[in-house]
Amino acid sequence: MKVGIDMGTASDGASVPLDIEELLATRLLVQGNSGSGKSHLLRRLLEQSAPWVQQCIIDPEGDFVTLADKFGHVVIEGERTEAELIGIASRIRQHRVSCVLSLEGLDIEQQMRSAGIFLNAMFDADRDYWYPVLVVVDEAQMFAPSVAGDVSEEARKISLGAMTNLMCRGRKRGLAGVIATQRLAKLAKNVAAEASNFLMGRTFLDIDMARAASLLGMDRRTAEMFHDLKRGSFVALGPALSRRPLPVTIGHVETSARSTSPKLTPLPEAVADVEDLIFTPDPERTDPADHAPSQCPATPGYRYPRRAFPAASGSDRAFRTEGAGAGNAGSGARGVARRPACGDSRTS
Ligand SMILES: Nc1ncnc2c1ncn2[C@@H]1O[C@H](COP(=O)(O)OP(=O)(O)OP(=O)(O)O)[C@@H](O)[C@H]1O
Ligand SMILES: [Mg+2]
Repeated sequence: MKVGIDMGTASDGASVPLDIEELLATRLLVQGNSGSGKSHLLRRLLEQSAPWVQQCIIDPEGDFVTLADKFGHVVIEGERTEAELIGIASRIRQHRVSCVLSLEGLDIEQQMRSAGIFLNAMFDADRDYWYPVLVVVDEAQMFAPSVAGDVSEEARKISLGAMTNLMCRGRKRGLAGVIATQRLAKLAKNVAAEASNFLMGRTFLDIDMARAASLLGMDRRTAEMFHDLKRGSFVALGPALSRRPLPVTIGHVETSARSTSPKLTPLPEAVADVEDLIFTPDPERTDPADHAPSQCPATPGYRYPRRAFPAASGSDRAFRTEGAGAGNAGSGARGVARRPACGDSRTS
């Protein structure tokens, strides 16, 4: 069945379709610097294709949980045991339910571990359930880094192995990888090389431009067009998109991201007792448990106590999600499967 979803408009105003069935076989890589519009593009692709194909989003920032209300995705909090993640992933494939694995609030090592375990379990699903799934991974360089970072070798192995399976061996099992990265040079080469479709956004660094040129089979001069692209503009290439490099402006989206670009807002009026305001401890934060040695912020895996933030509801939610400690604001969304976190007063 041929289904072409509308990704946006070309410079002549014509719509630019993306062939979903072709995409399932040939995968997609999206690259562009921070703020170039990758997550917006992924959201457009997900919204347009939601009626046609099952979707699974690996979401480091919890941005895509907003798809739940309108499109019925189940939100899965990533902080779970290995057995829980494997069980949920298997049932996701069995019942063909679209989902968002939200890794917001986890440290990088836990994010890699949870994503790796979940993806591997989707990959290992019983042959009877090898139905097509679009597996979208935002910030893919975190899960398939080109070089070893500060995380444990074990976490890196699980995550990189799962991403390699997804991109190199996933097709026969129905898994179609759609990955987005800020920095092509930071993404493992074998993972990037398996995509045959590309949407290239604004790219500043020479090293990323060189990687893009080599992946797309372009000379460096042609690849320099990526330097001047505007936010929301990408160059499309590949069997599911266009046989020749085609500039496209990505269309609008129906749901909104929970995080937005920073906007300048007027500073508050100067307060007379500003020192009191800053140095008087918050009574809700004086619980000795928050200061126990094992809870020290320098300890790997430490999470700032959520009880300091009011519960999200109604108009509060938008405010909370912009704060650094925004926890599970998406938990009000339909279909949330959430496990109580230790020290989370909202769940007790
Ligand atoms: N085609 C577009 N039309 C309208 N707004 C857009 C478009 N593309 C991006 N934006 C807006 O620009 C901002 C940045 O976009 P987005 O968050 O998608 O960037 P990003 O490439 O994912 O950045 P990061 O790598 O930092 O996550 C957002 O507020 C988004 O709504
Ligand atoms: Mg993004």
